[in-house]
Formats: sequence, structure tokens, C-alpha cells
Amino acid sequence: MKNLILIGFMGAGKTTIGKLLAKGKNMSFVDTDERIVLEQGRTIPDIFAEYGEPYFRDLETDLLRRMQEDTTDSVISVGGGMPVREENRALLRELGCVIYLSASKQTILERVRNDGSRPMLNGDDLEARVEQLMKARESLYRQAAHVDVRTDGRSIHQVMQILDQETRRFLKEKY
Ligand code: S3P
Repeated sequence: MKNLILIGFMGAGKTTIGKLLAKGKNMSFVDTDERIVLEQGRTIPDIFAEYGEPYFRDLETDLLRRMQEDTTDSVISVGGGMPVREENRALLRELGCVIYLSASKQTILERVRNDGSRPMLNGDDLEARVEQLMKARESLYRQAAHVDVRTDGRSIHQVMQILDQETRRFLKEKY
């Protein structure tokens, strides 16, 4: 079976939901940020600080290319900025069913506040930064996704149920 890929903004719940989904479906779980950190032997803030964002984006694209060969039957949670590059959006769609987990700005803000592990959110005005990035990315997430799932006001259990229905429908139509 093909992969299930979770995309969405930082704090949308990709990792939490991805792990549960993988467990429920008895699939492996892969997190692109985790793989990059392991391969580089550095944290994401360190990679950004030492080499800058473009270098990190190249690492993401390089990983996505390799995953076409080495990753199957997995639930894959990808970093929030991965779908921004056009090449990455195409690579993501080739990897399997791409699911966009969306959440409102308010929900995202509650989840990412006081989190120093996300260099894209550094700065004084967190709300303005989240708003600016969400605005710039929203249509790109939609372009990359086969399936959209809104998480606001829904319990994890409800999100999991919707995900299950939507991915089954997608896989049935496609294969
Ligand atoms: C980023 C999101 C992060 C991580 C990096 C950049 C982004 O992943 O890849 O800090 O540009 O949105 P999460 O979405 O898992 O926080």
C-alpha cells in the first residue's frame, strides 16, 4: 500500500495524529524533521543558525527524493514548510495520499506559543508571523493535498475517524 502523508502548518498536529494513525493502521511512522536531525547530527534550530533556511530546504528536498525509493507503507509527517517548494509538492503527491491537516490561527497560536524549537517563528510578534506564514502557505497546502481535514473543534478521535474515511475513499478511487 502507498504512504499516507500529513502536511500542514506548525502545530497542526501532524506528529501526534501521524503516530496514532500509524499505530491504528499497523504502519511505520516517519517524521521528516526527525530524519533530518538524525542524519545531520544537529537540531533544527542549530541547522538554521549555522547554515540558514535555504540549506535546510535543500535537505528537505533531498530527503523527499530519497524517500521515493526507500519509503513505503508508512505514515509520513512532514515539516510545515515542505510543501512550499513546487518540486516538493509534486514529490509529496508521488509518495502517496497527501492529507492537509488544517487549524485556525488561534488554535495554532495556542499550540506553538513558548516553543523555542521552531526557528521560523522566532521574533517579537508571534501572531503577526503566524498570520503572515499561514496566508502565504494556505493555497500551497491545498495544491499539495489530495484530502483536507480540519482539526478545529474536533477531538483527536473525531479527526482519526474522518481521516480513516477520507483515506479509504481516496485509496479506493485511486487503486
Ligand atoms: C518548519 C516547520 C517545522 C520544521 C522547521 C521549519 C516550517 O516542522 O520543519 O522548523 O517552515 O514550517 P513542524 O511543522 O513539524 O513544526
